Amino acid sequence: MEDRVMRQPEIEDLRQIIDIENNCFPVPWSEEIFLRIVLCRGKYRVSEDIFVHMKVMARQGLVIGYIIWEESFSDESGHILNLAVREDERSKGNGRLLLDRALKGMSEAGMKTCELEVRESNHSARDLYSRAGMMAVDRAERYYDDEDAIIYAIEF
Ligand SMILES: CC(C)(COP(=O)(O)OP(=O)(O)OC[C@H]1O[C@@H](n2cnc3c(N)ncnc32)[C@H](O)[C@@H]1OP(=O)(O)O)[C@@H](O)C(=O)NCCC(=O)NCCS
Repeated sequence: MEDRVMRQPEIEDLRQIIDIENNCFPVPWSEEIFLRIVLCRGKYRVSEDIFVHMKVMARQGLVIGYIIWEESFSDESGHILNLAVREDERSKGNGRLLLDRALKGMSEAGMKTCELEVRESNHSARDLYSRAGMMAVDRAERYYDDEDAIIYAIEF
């Protein structure tokens, strides 16, 4: 039975989201950033024309993963800022569902492009982006303190 749902983040999800973030990344986002986004129920206004969105994949009370993206209306561009799936829920299509949801949201909001940065050595994420139709278009040297980023992009 398909019991996964994609939904806005709730305050009850916060602890699990922070745990996933801390398990996934050497330099995790702060709890305060997640709190701000969650308190706005996944739609945070950064400035006049920039919005940050967050969606959570969940099964009953379990947070499986999440995606966060930005939409900039002045230059009609989207940016994936964060994507993470619990280690024991990977390779089941969750990452792809989250990514597809973000890309659909951006396209429907009128964005013309979407970009993201990924560690050069992060092959599972890079494969996911390629399979979703994104292209490696550039390299940002030492984007992370210890590693280059590869920039992936897609046009809608
Ligand atoms: C990158 C990440 C989000 C991918 O999430 P995921 O849920 O494993 O992604 P998917 O399941 O959609 O795709 C991953 C793999 O599962 C396979 N897969 C997808 N659906 C499947 C299914 N139903 N059955 C078996 N395998 C499946 C895909 O073919 C893919 O193959 P791969 O193992 O060669 O990569 C996850 O690895 C993660 O959270 N990593 C740590 C954080 C991170 O690096 N984030 C990205 C920062 S840029």
